[in-house]
Parts: sequence; structure tokens; C-alpha cells
Amino acid sequence: MALYSEKVMDHFRNPRNVGQIDDADGVGEVGNAKCGDIMRMYIKVDDGIITDVKFNTFGCASAIATSSMATELIKGKPVEEALKLSNDAVVEALDGLPTHKIHCSVLAEEAVSAAVKDYYDKNGIAYDPAIFKEHPDHEGESCSV
Ligand code: FES
Repeated sequence: MALYSEKVMDHFRNPRNVGQIDDADGVGEVGNAKCGDIMRMYIKVDDGIITDVKFNTFGCASAIATSSMATELIKGKPVEEALKLSNDAVVEALDGLPTHKIHCSVLAEEAVSAAVKDYYDKNGIAYDPAIFKEHPDHEGESCSV
């Protein structure tokens, strides 16, 4: 069986929404200290809706594919809904990832979350800090490329 699903390969080879938004309303940057992969997510928000989203990822194929899929999943959605995006949902939308690559999808979830937090902070929108707590799966993950 192939290591990666066709969807993962498609999003890796033809990532959607690559780039940056110069006048973004929120920017989130996250990284995995073990592999050094870095993901930056930009969101444009209008009336509480994410009207545009772009990403730049310096990382492995799974990190790129999950960033790409995450942007597709949150575009056009209310920010509150984007916050609920889980790495499991991203992995499911990609028809799965090898077990040792699941942590790459955590980066995508965290990048979206960090971008929304930045949007809230910049706009003085109150929130419960607990909703932005670190993803527990991130701890102690080995990051094999
Ligand atoms: Fe580091 Fe995938 S995020 S190997």
C-alpha cells in the first residue's frame, strides 16, 4: 500500500492557497522544534468570516499537504468554526496520514489557531485563553522526516 493517499500527494504537489497576505488580519506562526519545520498562516477576516487564507510552510510533504487542506477547510468559514478545526479533521479530509506523520497535522491545527488568536489580539476581541492552549499531542513527538 502506498505510504501517502492520493489526496496527500495532490495537496503536496499542488498546494492550495500558498503565499502570504500583506494586509492580513491575523498571522500565526508555529514550528516543530524537533524537525525544524515552520508553518505560517495568514487570514483575512470580514465580518467574522475568513474571506481569504494563505500559508507558507517550510517543511515535510505532510506539513505542506496538511497546511493546504487546512486552508481549504477554513476558507469562507466563521473564525469560531476555524478554531474548532482539529488535526484529526484535516487528516480525515486527506484520507489519512501514516501514524508517524500525524504530528505534522498538529502544526496545521496550531497555525490556524495562532492566526485566529492574532486576529483576536489585534482587534481587541475578548476570549478565554484556555481555548488556545498547546496541543497535548505535540509534547514528546518524534519528528521523523
Ligand atoms: Fe516535521 Fe512533518 S512537521 S516532519
